[in-house]
Amino acid sequence: MTMPTTPEQAARRHAEVAAALHRHNHLYYVLDRPEISDSAYDELFRELLELEDAFPALATPDSPSRRVGAAPLERFAAVRHSLPMLSLDNKKSADELRDFDTQVRKSLALSDEVDYVCEMKLDGLAVELVYAEGVLVNGATRGDGMVGEGILENLKTIPSVPLRLQAGAPARLEVRGEVYIELAEFQRWNRELEENGAATYVNPRNAAAGSLRQLDSRVTARRPLQIFCYGIGEVDGPLPESHGVLLQQLQAWGLRVNLAATKVVRGVDGVLAYYNELLARRDQLPFEIDGVVVKVDRLAWQRDLGEKSRSPRWAAAFKFPPRQAETIVEQVVLQVGRTGAITPVAQLTPVEVSGVTVSRASLHNWDEIARLDLKIGDRVVVERAGDVIPDVVRVLTELRSGRERSIPLPVACPECGSPVTRLEGEVVPRCQGLSCPAQLKESIKHFASRAAMDIEGLGERYVEQLLTLGLIASVADLYTLQRGDLFRFERMGEKLADNLLAAIAASKTRSLARFLFALGIRHVGIHLAKVLARQFGSLDALAAASRDELRAVHEVGPQVADSVVAFFAAPRNREILQQLAASGVQPEATERRAGGRFTGKTFVFTGGLDTLGRKEAQELVESLGGRAAGSVSKKTDYVVAGADAGSKLDKARELGITILDEAGFKALLQEEGE
Ligand code: IVH
Repeated sequence: MTMPTTPEQAARRHAEVAAALHRHNHLYYVLDRPEISDSAYDELFRELLELEDAFPALATPDSPSRRVGAAPLERFAAVRHSLPMLSLDNKKSADELRDFDTQVRKSLALSDEVDYVCEMKLDGLAVELVYAEGVLVNGATRGDGMVGEGILENLKTIPSVPLRLQAGAPARLEVRGEVYIELAEFQRWNRELEENGAATYVNPRNAAAGSLRQLDSRVTARRPLQIFCYGIGEVDGPLPESHGVLLQQLQAWGLRVNLAATKVVRGVDGVLAYYNELLARRDQLPFEIDGVVVKVDRLAWQRDLGEKSRSPRWAAAFKFPPRQAETIVEQVVLQVGRTGAITPVAQLTPVEVSGVTVSRASLHNWDEIARLDLKIGDRVVVERAGDVIPDVVRVLTELRSGRERSIPLPVACPECGSPVTRLEGEVVPRCQGLSCPAQLKESIKHFASRAAMDIEGLGERYVEQLLTLGLIASVADLYTLQRGDLFRFERMGEKLADNLLAAIAASKTRSLARFLFALGIRHVGIHLAKVLARQFGSLDALAAASRDELRAVHEVGPQVADSVVAFFAAPRNREILQQLAASGVQPEATERRAGGRFTGKTFVFTGGLDTLGRKEAQELVESLGGRAAGSVSKKTDYVVAGADAGSKLDKARELGITILDEAGFKALLQEEGE
């Protein structure tokens, strides 16, 4: 990219890039239908940041760059909702639900069944988004229902919150929805907090609420928040006849709506069927829900029914049974993480919590133990969310016998006996042993994990055997393993050994971001790993960066900068990185990779390909040093057109760009390979 020199040129290019980013963001986060690869997106994003660096006036409030957070606030502004944000009456049984339906039909004087919209009741935090002329101009929490807290800057950092709506949206639109965190993300992030010695969150709802109520939106930007929209406040424009159609409209305007799980059903029996179906699927969902929300579909009837002081008469929550049970803490064991953080874990008398037997619960740290006033032998209430390890939510202190024992802070590491210290500002004690086997095991497991180097099959069992047999002493040794080494494992066949070696070899080409995350640099989670990869482009450039250069990167604070510098300064780490490089593990940020057969060539894919997925094709191009772009321009070298190719194909013809069909693309792959 060459930087435009005049403000006019820059403004034009900025508008193009911003529009492309808005569009790809919508495709990825709202529609779950990406058209360009992550690295092509990253490249556009970097161009946007560079333009805004050179021409700061371009960084308008709705620029996609604003998603990374703004300067901290002193306090939140009070935001009065144009229409109150109501809550819902809870129905706890089928009978109570039938009463609700009877009441609805009586008030409307209907003898026929009513159509209801059934939605998932997400367990997060209710928010309101305000759009004026299609631009997100305000956002707030529910607060007391009348006045909430202004959290616009925080909401802007959520990728699935559109900063601009699609064409056709009303001039003023207030949208309501639930901000939440997926269970897997919640677990990953809590583990990271634990490793960093920070306090963890008890459940995804608290985590979402805590993240949204940060005065520093740069902190919020690092949290894996998502939104589903489910309703409206004041709208300046015509409304459809039904809530079901309204939800579809919200989606068409660019908002993320949980349409896949939303269903219009007939009468109370329809609601019960939906409820039972959802209850059975509850554990398979990627997020926590605590019931079903039932809404009268027809908006005119909603108006007729009206509301009580705090809740509407046209909607209700049909809650799921709580996932709690009582059991006894038999013992507390200590777990050592990859950074030496020591976590207390309660061993419980096995108990069934809504269909799953539970026998362990993380206690997180000693502050949490003190908060709960927990002792060994206590009777406790445990709660399970999704498939997550349960939490102890309450101690039944009134049932104590007096024989309960308190849980002392460890003085030595349970694994290697090294001294344990608790650093200032941290809530967990840490093992200080440099060669603690538990730390080594955890760091190798982390390196191989799905979000890091994604070495399929290399889980706890194999890592343990590799270490016990003395086959590896660091992650670098993974890449020099021989087939014969693996046959020393218990129950290891030829096929398994070959698969494992192939998986290890395949991990050599992972992206720089994954590699940085895999290294386990303190305070560098997956998000910051991406930021650093994008900014520095290569491992060498990052390793050579000074503290100040690191600090100059948006989102990198002093703690992260220090930790990165310290990581690359440590002789043992340098040695491991050299060994990794010598084995061919030296990832580059894809877009900076040089020397591939497609270096300097830009491809645009349009329409559906028959045998290759679009993402796969783009990755092929990138793996060969080429670029996969989202839109056709003079700089495009090839347009690969599949079935139903649209305007991009027309544009390619107009610009005289080489157009390939799928067979032609494959031929090119072969040809260039010779
Ligand atoms: S509708 C007037 N729909 O539940 C209608 N709420 O107890 C008010 N919630 O504060 C809300 N999923 O935080 C609605 N699909 C859904 C919901 C939902 C979760 C939450 C929301 C609200 C609370 C009401």
